[in-house]
Amino acid sequence: MERPASRAAIAPFLAMEMAREAGARAAAGESIVRFDVGQPWVGAPAKAIEAVRAALGRETLGYTDALGSPALREALATHYRERYGVEVAPARIAIATGASGAFILAFLALFDTGARVAMAAPGYPPYRHILTALGMRAAIAEASVADRLQLTPDHLRELAAKEAIDGVLVASPANPTGAMLTPAEKHALAETARALGAPLICDEIYHGLTYGADATTALKADPDAIIVSSFSKYWAMTGWRVGWLVVPDHLIGAVERLAQNLTVSPPHVSQIAALGALQATDECEARRAILAENRAALLAALPRLGFTLAAPADGAFYLLVDIGAHSADSLSFCRRALAEAGVAMTAGIDFDETRGHRWVRLSYARDPAEVADGIARLERWLAR
Ligand SMILES: Cc1ncc(COP(=O)(O)O)c(C=O)c1O
Repeated sequence: MERPASRAAIAPFLAMEMAREAGARAAAGESIVRFDVGQPWVGAPAKAIEAVRAALGRETLGYTDALGSPALREALATHYRERYGVEVAPARIAIATGASGAFILAFLALFDTGARVAMAAPGYPPYRHILTALGMRAAIAEASVADRLQLTPDHLRELAAKEAIDGVLVASPANPTGAMLTPAEKHALAETARALGAPLICDEIYHGLTYGADATTALKADPDAIIVSSFSKYWAMTGWRVGWLVVPDHLIGAVERLAQNLTVSPPHVSQIAALGALQATDECEARRAILAENRAALLAALPRLGFTLAAPADGAFYLLVDIGAHSADSLSFCRRALAEAGVAMTAGIDFDETRGHRWVRLSYARDPAEVADGIARLERWLAR
């Protein structure tokens, strides 16, 4: 019997499945609070839309260079200079179809079949699923609450003692926790990765969305680090599918050849929107202020809900909470919350297959009224 290739036998991205179910219920007329979705409640900034409106009818919007439009690559180089004080040549920047597309290019450019890439659990599930689909492997370290559920140099040494590692993948702020690595921690990870001969990949997609200290780029810890980022989160442009990679000089040729053959070009219209978005700092900062209020409201509600924070929520728009007081099975807890309280949340097993049954991820990238409603619904439901 015909069946899909074994490389396609990857686990589903449960957050997307929950989103589909919550979306279907909402479409059928149910009132659902969406604490599940990992995307802002608002769309692209006005300046992005204006840029697109101006381009429609004026431009043919054909392919751009495989690595992206020169204007956007230049603008991102300026972004690195202005935001972080780091010089990045535009030639080292590759535009991709979201951070997701950037990961595919990075993994293919860096690793051969069978490569082993170190990362922490809990972590963003597609990291390991993309690697599997590409015939590579995730080497997963169980991160501890004491380490804010982040990867440490000790983890790297332990993983490498079992079998050589070919790469190291970290995220700061991380999904599902929002926890950030300090600059010193990034330096230590970069040093250990270098000693083990493994390139460091840092997912910086949640940069801009921090509520205390600003995030610094891993390029400061390791100028050869591979940076993955995107317009999806800070600029609220998930559906536009535009992200980018920063790679060292010696990799850009490989990334370009892969991009030429895999995608020809990133979406042109989205790159025009992204250029506009880079001018929209005021609007994005106003949105961040709303996220900060939502975060504060949810954090204040946690004791009333009987949830405890599993790691500090420094950034992104998530809280990873321990639901041990209510359930030892986060998936059925989330299913019941959706059916009985009309609140969609993401089960922790998506992010950590062994310990995630105790955790639930709450996304607060919603309108403040919806956040307040969600808190009230959960409070009533959990008290019943
Ligand atoms: C940590 C992390 N990396 C990457 C992505 C993928 O983002 P994009 O929409 O840019 O493909 C996400 C999306 O939720 C994410 O949370």
